[in-house]
Amino acid sequence: METVITLEELRSVRSRLPQPVGLVPTMGYLHEGHLSLVRRARTENASVVVSIFVNPTQFAPHEDFESYPRDLQRDLNLLHAEGVDLVWTPTPEVMYPEPYQTWVTVERVSRRLEGEFRPNHFRGVATVVAKLFNAVQPQRAYFGQKDAQQALVIRRMTLDLNFPIEVIVCPTIREADGLAMSSRNTYLNPQERQAATIIYRALTAAQKAFEAGERDAERLKGIARQVIESEPLASLQYLSCAHPETLEELQGPVHHALLSTAVLIGKTRLIDNVLIGG
Ligand code: PAJ
Repeated sequence: METVITLEELRSVRSRLPQPVGLVPTMGYLHEGHLSLVRRARTENASVVVSIFVNPTQFAPHEDFESYPRDLQRDLNLLHAEGVDLVWTPTPEVMYPEPYQTWVTVERVSRRLEGEFRPNHFRGVATVVAKLFNAVQPQRAYFGQKDAQQALVIRRMTLDLNFPIEVIVCPTIREADGLAMSSRNTYLNPQERQAATIIYRALTAAQKAFEAGERDAERLKGIARQVIESEPLASLQYLSCAHPETLEELQGPVHHALLSTAVLIGKTRLIDNVLIGG
């Protein structure tokens, strides 16, 4: 496994990699969710490239860029064990040469949900992923359903900018008690960690109601909302029942929907989603 930092090193190693190349973009502090993407990429490509970059432009000034967990040596050991060919760990200077001025903005699908609570977040995500795509030139790129809106934003950007890249979205990997794996789970103290299980319990309560015949979007959301509100350490930011591709909020009877939520557990902001119907 090779590890590179600069664009020159990256291009030199990349040019010698057998094709097709699969890319897994990450911000590091890897867990089984990330590794599931790496394993899928490993089965589908001759070479696997993983990027590790805590992207400053997708964090708002008050967010957790500084405290975001980092452990490069641990990450490299995990990736080596998965048979990854190349790890790219660019610095902010490599990704954003001064005076940086160019941005990728994906419009409609970025606006709601995460976009409402994190203005400019998806501008940072789309910009950095476009730059990773340009630099690595993979045939395939792997993303997690855990960040459903991010996957939709990247799929739209890939089509709109004519990147010749297949975007593959992989299922959410969960802890045994249902909590979606996330690097941010390390912020939770033991009491908060227990409270965080309410998120998936709320989503599955609505999913079960759907399976039992409840179709009304408002009532499905009401069921999930009530579960989250029963947890004193949880504070709900949004709970949405939306069209799984456009993310337009649904009303009345639903047949296929993305049920998604953002919840503060203490000071830690967690997101999760499930698909219903379809
Ligand atoms: P990061 O949060 O490190 O996640 C990297 C990839 O792993 C994303 O595609 C994310 O959806 C996926 N992932 C995270 N948790 C997962 C889980 N529990 N199950 C399955 N997949 C999971 O998302 C980012 O980084 C950044 O925004 C990035 C795309 C790298 C751009 O900076």
